[in-house]
Amino acid sequence: MISVNEPLLGDRELEYVSECVRTGWVSSAGRFIEEFEEKWAAYCARKYGVAVSNGTAALQVAVATLGLRPGDEVIMPSFTIISCALAVVYAGGVPVLVDSDPRSWTMDVNQIARKITPRTKAIMPVHIYGHPADMDPMLELAGRHCLAVIEDAAEAHGAEYLVGYHGREPAWRRCGSFGTLSCFSFYANKLITTGEGGMVLTDRADLAEKARSLRNLCFQPGRRFYHEELGFNFRITNLQAALGRSQLERMDQIVAKKRWIGQEYTRRLMGLPGLQLPVEEAWARNVYWMYGVVVSEATGMDAEAVAPKLAEHGIETRPFFLGMHEQPVFRRRGWFVNESYPVAERLARQGLYLPSGMALTEEQLEHVVKALQEKLK
Ligand SMILES: Cc1ncc(COP(=O)(O)O)c(C=O)c1O
Repeated sequence: MISVNEPLLGDRELEYVSECVRTGWVSSAGRFIEEFEEKWAAYCARKYGVAVSNGTAALQVAVATLGLRPGDEVIMPSFTIISCALAVVYAGGVPVLVDSDPRSWTMDVNQIARKITPRTKAIMPVHIYGHPADMDPMLELAGRHCLAVIEDAAEAHGAEYLVGYHGREPAWRRCGSFGTLSCFSFYANKLITTGEGGMVLTDRADLAEKARSLRNLCFQPGRRFYHEELGFNFRITNLQAALGRSQLERMDQIVAKKRWIGQEYTRRLMGLPGLQLPVEEAWARNVYWMYGVVVSEATGMDAEAVAPKLAEHGIETRPFFLGMHEQPVFRRRGWFVNESYPVAERLARQGLYLPSGMALTEEQLEHVVKALQEKLK
């Protein structure tokens, strides 16, 4: 089976993890945690990094850092992972949804303004499958309405966005550099993996301090078992950070390999009727975290029908997200019941992603392409 994602770990990972084992620094203290935080923050041009146990925890810490009051609203795309919504719900807030752009599959920025109410506290853009969301109009709206931005860059390590692309001095900036707080996941299928892991980035010292405190049960610096607030145990271990720290040394190579996979799939699949491919907008550098395709209804098939056909050829795939407004857990609460987001609904039914891991070879890629050409012709 060609796995949908196979990570590529090497000698440097072994060396750093071995150092943790040899020196006994295996828990949530040790040099790799701070180094990983500093270096990842620097890579994304941010001042502070707070590493946590996973990407969902990063979102929870980021939202908790904002200090929502019950009923405060956070605008996010319906087409995302449940981590985004649950972070808001656990903080006592309400997720407010918008649909996605049919080309880039990221949040449709034109739908945000009409969802802003006096209760809106933040916008949560999500860079989908390695393609940046359109940040300029969103940041403008956030600025105008004094809203925080919680950027979910879990899937967009190293992806870039052309700031000011309509203006005279456009400049490329990395995803993760835009949010009041920006979140990453380092799960095994991400460009950089710590096995499980995540990080919150910010430029504000007060927010970084609060996030650090929330990560570690809100212990008081001078008075350990005395608590002014409720926190979480979302600590990362030195072992995990050692993995992340080592991969950072070859980040350029990792991004190059992912972009090669994406561009090669596109080159070989282009023109195949019945398949919508990922785009790279003029203002975006896509890192193709996962190479997603959307099967046209004209084929008479949906993603669920195509997946077993590819599996017959030894090809593993994964379905796209099911939108938040279609989730039973929220419907049961009476949320989103009369809401419809046609783009998200179509993506959920027709979309699936192909093997895209760091270990994917050209032969495997060609095998996937051939299988698709045969099944969709
Ligand atoms: C967009 C997005 N946000 C958040 C997460 C949550 O990260 P984790 O799985 O590390 O909790 C993921 C997970 O893959 C994701 O794709």
